[in-house]
Amino acid sequence: MKKDFIERIIENTQKGIVPKAEDLKLIFGCDDKALSPLYERARETAFSVYSDNVFVRGLIEITSFCKNDCLYCGLRRSNKEAQRYRIKEEDIFEICKIGYEKGFRTFVLQGGEDGYFGDEILVPLIEKIKSAFKNVAVTLSLGERTKESYKNLFNAGADRYLLRHETADSKHYKKLHPKDMSYENRKRCLYDLKEIGYQTGCGLMVGSPYQTEESLYKDLVFIKEFYPEMVGIGPFIPHKKTPFKDFEKGSVKKTLIMLALVRILVPKALLPATTALKTADGNGLLKGILSGANVIMPNLTPDEYRTKYEIYDGKTTSDKKCIKEYLENIDNELNKIGRRLNMSRGDYKK
Ligand code: 5AD
Repeated sequence: MKKDFIERIIENTQKGIVPKAEDLKLIFGCDDKALSPLYERARETAFSVYSDNVFVRGLIEITSFCKNDCLYCGLRRSNKEAQRYRIKEEDIFEICKIGYEKGFRTFVLQGGEDGYFGDEILVPLIEKIKSAFKNVAVTLSLGERTKESYKNLFNAGADRYLLRHETADSKHYKKLHPKDMSYENRKRCLYDLKEIGYQTGCGLMVGSPYQTEESLYKDLVFIKEFYPEMVGIGPFIPHKKTPFKDFEKGSVKKTLIMLALVRILVPKALLPATTALKTADGNGLLKGILSGANVIMPNLTPDEYRTKYEIYDGKTTSDKKCIKEYLENIDNELNKIGRRLNMSRGDYKK
């Protein structure tokens, strides 16, 4: 019975029929044995498009300043105890240089919405990175900006942009964000990015406060319609200095199920096994890959800043020691499940 149910869900999802809220509830209630065909189909789907490759992105957390006040995030401006830093342009370039020598071919410049990083700073930085290093992709993850700014950064050479939609339910969006932010503007940004020509990533936290199966259904419908090139999915993890400090963290299992459904719905998407997943579960990285993820994002942020980029409690820093050794270890683990690390740019397959 459960087996037929999961088979039907897989078949429908593959046809683009998104599981309704009540079905999502039932899927979440299934045990691992019943769910295994779902994960298996997600893995097969990733394999059919990207073969055994797991792509590597070097993450650089360039600023912990943020003008926004999202209720879930430790970097929200109301958190007066957050330690703020911003990495100078020259230093960001140097971090890319070290990363390049270690084989990284995608750099993700991520940060809070920090007015310092205007186009006048970012355009020359992106141009410098793109001209100094061959076959490199630059991904930006710097929040909401004007269409004009997105265009300027794209023209400077940025290839990809990550902007999680957070939730596709506008009422839910309001509960997670201050009054001056809206789902409508978020969507505007995402559609602008896509129109400009970026490989565009949306995404969500699983288990964020006030999330329901209905809102997760809306997320899947949005993802199907928007058809992003990338999707970041991780569990919500509370941060002690936010209004959501007493909420429970998101379920790893539900996160893996959402990952698998997104993989089947958007077969060519590049899906990271996120840091939050790794933080919530020591084996999160491999579990993510086994549920259809095909990207990892090791952190290249220098130690002196890294602990200050605290978007949630206990954010893992395990990949900080020797990056070469860290990658070798992951590659070994991946080999056991028929996957291997791929250090190339790893673009979306058109
Ligand atoms: N738990 C998990 N993920 C979080 N993010 C922000 N705060 C948290 C949290 N407490 C995610 C959001 C955001 C990205 C930068 O990190 O989805 O888009």
